[in-house]
Amino acid sequence: MLVNDIYNLAIKMGIDADFRGRDFINKLLAIKKEKYQKLSETEKENFDLEVLENPFLDSRILQVSDNKEIKKALVGIDISPAEILMAKEIGGIDLIISHHPLGKALANLADVMELHADVLNQYGVPINVAEGLMKPRISEVARGVNSANHQRTVDAAKLLGYNLMCVHTPCDNMAAKFLKDKIEKADLFKLEDLIKLLKQIPEYKEAGKIGAGPKIFVGSPENRCGKIALTEITGGTEGSPKLYEKMAQAGIGTVVGMHISEEHKKEAEAANINVVIAGHISSDSIGVNLFLDELEKKGIEIVPCSGLIRILRNS
Ligand SMILES: [Fe+2]
Repeated sequence: MLVNDIYNLAIKMGIDADFRGRDFINKLLAIKKEKYQKLSETEKENFDLEVLENPFLDSRILQVSDNKEIKKALVGIDISPAEILMAKEIGGIDLIISHHPLGKALANLADVMELHADVLNQYGVPINVAEGLMKPRISEVARGVNSANHQRTVDAAKLLGYNLMCVHTPCDNMAAKFLKDKIEKADLFKLEDLIKLLKQIPEYKEAGKIGAGPKIFVGSPENRCGKIALTEITGGTEGSPKLYEKMAQAGIGTVVGMHISEEHKKEAEAANINVVIAGHISSDSIGVNLFLDELEKKGIEIVPCSGLIRILRNS
């Protein structure tokens, strides 16, 4: 596989796992195409054409230094110049994959956050309410990533001659689907049952050994789960704190997330929504592992680094 083949596979797997479904995503891309066609010639010159094909702008090929057959990849949750230097020490690395966005994918992180509104809508929050509350949150995230040194790691890859890509939302979509399927198949009554189920997943078991396993952030082990929603696993980063009240009104009892800020936690408490935090890097690892299993099947050797808890699933 070449860098582009690996990247296309990531996007395809991300769409397959997306809660919104392929038809809905195609509709969103068609709207973007329509808008593009109405641009002036000068505006078209500066337009990033990938916007028309890729629904996950937080996932990109960032640097192709040598377009060769990929046999060995260094994969981590966060790739910094340190990991690029590590690749040199390890030797034989053809491609470096970061989970968290870098370069222009980081600059475009907020673009994938519209996903939140549609997922919330599927759980019963009216789309106008979800959209209305997500809009200011999306621009807040866009402003937040604006000051980053976006190209630092990309420049390191360029200088040392490495291929580099990042795959964020496609993997988070896979993690969300994996967890949703598992949770919906199980007969969960209390939060302690949910925690027990999560702790059986190898990535969370490993995270538990270093004190980063699944935890109840809002609620008590005896609380009833009610309807469990996977609204905080994918979609770039946390949604709007104001949404918890709306989620409660829509009939959601428990939210499973990767991480939660204090502001969000307070709002969830006020809305009587239970919050179970499965773990950040461990949840990221689940999605990345599902993608890497496919690369291994195609003969690519994986070297995990930077927090990635590599678990191979043979199913
Ligand atoms: Fe993450």
